[in-house]
Amino acid sequence: MAEAIEVYENEQRRFPPSPEFVAAALTGDRSLYDEADADFEAFWARQARELITWQRDFDQVLDWQLPFAKWFIGGQLNVSYNCLDRHVEAGRGDRIAFHWEGEPGDTRTFTYAELLAEVAKFANVLKGLGLEKGDRIAIYMPMIPELPIAMLACTRIGVAHSVVFGGFSPDAISDRCNDASATVIITADAGYRRGEPSALKANVDQAFPNCDTVDRVIVVNRCDTDPPMEPGRDLWWHELMADAEADCPAEPLDSEQLLYLLYTSGTTAKPKGIMHTTGGYLTHIAFTHKYVFDLKPDTDVYWCAADIGWVTGHSYIVYGPLTNGATSVMYEGTPDTPRSQSRGGDRSSWPKDRLWDIIERYGVTQLYTAPTAIRTFMKWGEQEVAGHDLSSLRVLGTVGEPINPEAWMWYHTHIGGGTCPIVDTWWQTETGGHMISPLPGVTTTKPGSGCHAIPGVTVEVVDDEGNVVEEGGGYLTISKPWPGMLRGIWGDDDRYRETYWSQYPGRYFAGDGARLDEDGYLWLLGRVDDVMNVSGHRISTAEIESALVDHPAVAEAAVVGAADDTTGQAIIGYVILVGGHEASHALRDEVRRHVATKLGPVARPKAVFIVPDLPKTRSGKIMRRLLRDVAEGRVLGDTTTLADATVVDAIRVGAADSDED
Ligand code: WTA
Repeated sequence: MAEAIEVYENEQRRFPPSPEFVAAALTGDRSLYDEADADFEAFWARQARELITWQRDFDQVLDWQLPFAKWFIGGQLNVSYNCLDRHVEAGRGDRIAFHWEGEPGDTRTFTYAELLAEVAKFANVLKGLGLEKGDRIAIYMPMIPELPIAMLACTRIGVAHSVVFGGFSPDAISDRCNDASATVIITADAGYRRGEPSALKANVDQAFPNCDTVDRVIVVNRCDTDPPMEPGRDLWWHELMADAEADCPAEPLDSEQLLYLLYTSGTTAKPKGIMHTTGGYLTHIAFTHKYVFDLKPDTDVYWCAADIGWVTGHSYIVYGPLTNGATSVMYEGTPDTPRSQSRGGDRSSWPKDRLWDIIERYGVTQLYTAPTAIRTFMKWGEQEVAGHDLSSLRVLGTVGEPINPEAWMWYHTHIGGGTCPIVDTWWQTETGGHMISPLPGVTTTKPGSGCHAIPGVTVEVVDDEGNVVEEGGGYLTISKPWPGMLRGIWGDDDRYRETYWSQYPGRYFAGDGARLDEDGYLWLLGRVDDVMNVSGHRISTAEIESALVDHPAVAEAAVVGAADDTTGQAIIGYVILVGGHEASHALRDEVRRHVATKLGPVARPKAVFIVPDLPKTRSGKIMRRLLRDVAEGRVLGDTTTLADATVVDAIRVGAADSDED
């Protein structure tokens, strides 16, 4: 049978962990896999009881009414208690939770006891505003300590948060607030990015008239930019905190209490509110954070260089590390912005070594970042790394997109000193935590492979008919429920069933292609649906298309993700103009800017081509595959289903005329 997805990769290099690493590792043999294989429910129950403190023990491990799962039924717990109080009660209140560093170079340190005090106070602030268990609020903040404090305060009283990435635009804020019926937005005046304050409150002000349910906005003063404050609506964080009571008991919450919503792109223009609940999620991320990173909380300094606005930050900056009592680094800005004291001359002469500088100064032991960042560091060159002592590093992680073997080897050689195990972690907003990853003391890695499902997770590759593939390419599915799994899409059970459970009966379909090699190693092949992966961020073609046609000059639009050396995929738009508009470079730019304004800078197309027509099937479906061929400069694939064969030639000519930047 023909393979569902063809694969040409043939990577022969192997990297076993060193005997020293294995000897010191939390787990250095297959016992966790064996235990989970024997009885996955019993395995997760043991993890839940060992890693989490329950105010009431659970009566039942799993209730599985496909596709709806409940984990640890009857159990009661509180996330902020697990992240904070219990460490303080155990005498570890002086341990540092976060070494925070602002982009200008200012720093703040929070011990567990200090973080607890702030969280309890802010939970009282929320209560004072009338928020109650089950309510939803939105958070739109830069990477400052008040962001995890706000999230944890929500969990303390059972309020669910919906964090909106700070790079998103006003429309994204109002859409998400309306979908979740959020009543409060927490934001900041601005955050530092690339050396300058980047405004946030102004975006909230612009979104506010379209937010039907929000009545209060809490504002952290990060950059002293003095935004206008609307009396009665806008409240300063520091003023509220000055008056807040210090004591706020952590409420025992049901294991299935909604913890948060996080909106993610799918194949339609409307983002989905992914629902995560309490007990199962916390168990899953505590387990994976501990064993995938070989976390030794007494001595490690762990750093996940993601943004909390994405799921990676939720699970592996905030909830996983704090549950495990880790000491973490949290950094506000971009990797190419040095501390203000190291900035001289114009920006082009600034060093691009901020990450390596941070690792050296804090003695970071685990670094977790994205392949797109690694490829950027490669481009900047080894000289940015040279001169920094990175010998504290023990484990390196990657997440967000397939890592090409070349970038893997660069990371291994130049950052890992040729010795650190690399954990390439595959997972999604929907899965809550890691699903496929090496265990650093157990797995012999291959550059570019995610290796195997973690203990307790069952991943299977299937072909077009849903038959399990033992070797070769196909579609990645998950065939058993797992504790961190999404519990649904907020307000839309049908869409949940349809999106994830309808393609292959009884299986969760992740939207990714994968290949199993002859040794049973998994190789992730990227998205197989209409979702692009740009710099590790999922963006739907439909969402960009709808932003493009929103421009008055655009009649019709098609978007594809074309392979890109740095960002993995780049957004390429093809548009047909409304009659009367002339194609011009200025118009192409304006259209690209329009998308950035509608959706945020991450969504700005790399290029927009103005074309006379779009390639369609006879039934009117846009043939994105052909557009991708054009965008990537390939020979066209099968055109037999194309309604009008001359269209593609016209597009090619149009594309050749356009210039991108
Ligand atoms: C992709 C990010 C290959 C994949 C945690 C998935 C990866 C999507 C990897 C989820 C990896 C994530 N190797 N591809 N290690 N990690 N992906 O929801 O396509 O932002 O479906 O979650 O990123 O993106 P999301």
